[in-house]
Amino acid sequence: MNADVNDLMSLARRAVAHVAARTTDQAESTMALPVAAYLDPERYAREVDRIFRRVPLALALASEIAAPRSYVARSVLGVPVLLVRGDDGVARAFINVCRHRGAPLCEAGRGTTTRFTCPYHAWSYDHTGALVGVYGSSTFGDIEPAALALTALPIAERAGLLWVALKPDAAFDIDAWLGDFAPQLEALDLGEWHIFEQREIEGPGWKVAWDGYLEGYHQSALHPNTVGKNTIGNMMVVDAFGPHQRIVFGRKSLAGLVRKPEAEWEPAQHIRLIHSAFPNLSISGVLGDHCLVSQLYPGATPDRSLTVQSLLCRVAPVTDREREANAAFSSMVLEAVRDEDYAVGFRIQEGLASGGNTSFLFGRNEPTLQHYHRWVERMAAG
Ligand code: FES
Ligand SMILES: [Fe+2]
Repeated sequence: MNADVNDLMSLARRAVAHVAARTTDQAESTMALPVAAYLDPERYAREVDRIFRRVPLALALASEIAAPRSYVARSVLGVPVLLVRGDDGVARAFINVCRHRGAPLCEAGRGTTTRFTCPYHAWSYDHTGALVGVYGSSTFGDIEPAALALTALPIAERAGLLWVALKPDAAFDIDAWLGDFAPQLEALDLGEWHIFEQREIEGPGWKVAWDGYLEGYHQSALHPNTVGKNTIGNMMVVDAFGPHQRIVFGRKSLAGLVRKPEAEWEPAQHIRLIHSAFPNLSISGVLGDHCLVSQLYPGATPDRSLTVQSLLCRVAPVTDREREANAAFSSMVLEAVRDEDYAVGFRIQEGLASGGNTSFLFGRNEPTLQHYHRWVERMAAG
């Protein structure tokens, strides 16, 4: 990471002050959110439509299709998406359906190919989405190939991520959308990291699951043997960049800096950064040798979600020891997310309609949740 050292120092300074005083960044007051925000199917449909189907979502790491002619196909919120890097190095996004009669051009997954040939009647398309072959064309009748290119989705490549809108007409300006968050993301150098594993995890409703990505209040109680083991619980340093947020957690070793001169701090050793891009991308743990990129998508119903986890290491492993370190990070993350966060999330989901709560309460020590849910309401209303 080439984040400005001074910036890390100032973040460490804020974190150390909290550790010394046993405090954390706080909101002005507590905030109540009606449980309907998690339950109501109409509200859910409106939020998915107005947020997830309109704003640019980071659908993939740019390094997933690093080479020309590489592609990744993924179904996102019911939209079959095909991301392709052309011979010209440009990443493009298409709806993964053939323009003849709608068969998917390729199955979900990653690969490299010179042409996309439809399995149904063998029409074929190149990396720019152009229709370049029609099987039995002399028998088919007149068509206008230019009008039968794959349907493109708006896309921008920025900060090592591929940002895509799920509707063909939802054009966006990625710089306007990210604002001051863009340099924060750029500084992570995500494109330089190596993806060593990817997987999908089913979770409870999108908000129940996502809430856990935004606060450190639960670290000690829920994660004592995994991600909370080395993390100071209930201490966050938070900055908002429009709807996006950067969260700083302290490693337990941070307490050792309280009485050390700043010149000896080496802040990167003692803090961890989480970059949370609205509405569903979390880049977690950067500064160490491993990081977790999570994309969390609402499921078909309000009580289910799907998380795409990408596990990254700073350099591709060469030795057994490096491979073992990757495997240990992978199993720790899986345990924390699936067996701890989502396990309690499914239980929360079960109890949502019980009437035990008419609203949930976000503490002053959960300013990130307050910020997130205010933005959800604001964008769903707009
Ligand atoms: S549906 Fe693709 S060629 Fe017919
Ligand atoms: Fe958690």
